[in-house]
Amino acid sequence: MKMIEPSLLSLNKDKAQEQLKQIQALGIKYVHYDVMDGKFVPPTSYTTEYLKDLEQLGILPNVHLMVQDVEQWIDKYKDFKVNSITFHAETQDVDRAIELINKIHKMGCLAGISVKPETDLNQYQELLGECDIVLIMSVNPGWGGQGFVDSAMINLVKATQAKALYPKLIIQIDGGINFDYIKKLHSQVDWFVTGSWFFKNIDHMGQYLDEFKKLTNN
Ligand code: DX5
Ligand code: ZN
Repeated sequence: MKMIEPSLLSLNKDKAQEQLKQIQALGIKYVHYDVMDGKFVPPTSYTTEYLKDLEQLGILPNVHLMVQDVEQWIDKYKDFKVNSITFHAETQDVDRAIELINKIHKMGCLAGISVKPETDLNQYQELLGECDIVLIMSVNPGWGGQGFVDSAMINLVKATQAKALYPKLIIQIDGGINFDYIKKLHSQVDWFVTGSWFFKNIDHMGQYLDEFKKLTNN
């Protein structure tokens, strides 16, 4: 099912609980959970913060690992209810990436691979048949609030071609997304991640979500 997925990276820490309840009240069932290690990307973010709160609210995280040592980070989510775990394909060779996808599946989660805007997605064809989600980064990973990088459209086209081969593949896009991009890309993209636009407009999100439902016939 197509969805708009708020990125908790843009959550206002001073009113986090209030905003999480707002997300729940909007009927949102999944949020995007950005994990950064200070190695694969310069900043660090959270590891397991808010996960228990989300569980209580009946919201499932889609974990986006922007980390170098993927396996040791995957292990941190074993005891939490997590919908999916996505890691960056650039951090692994193909055989190792397949092992990690299998490991994520054994945890009962959907598995995804992600690529930066300048990475050629086609070099990971073999992985696209093994995983559930392909996360197309439309900014360079590491920070919220950046502008959409147009060259990401090349990977989006490649992901759409892969979906023709693997119809169950979920195409997720992340970075610089606002409602204009959602309107433009809704036929190709399944999951739209949005951080700064979502939280800036959280008080009006009910209307946007209604419009999104009409747009995507959800
Ligand atoms: C960026 C993160 C994104 C980020 C998106 O590295 O992976 O998920 O939170 O934020 P916006 O929507 O502000 O670009
Ligand atoms: Zn992300």
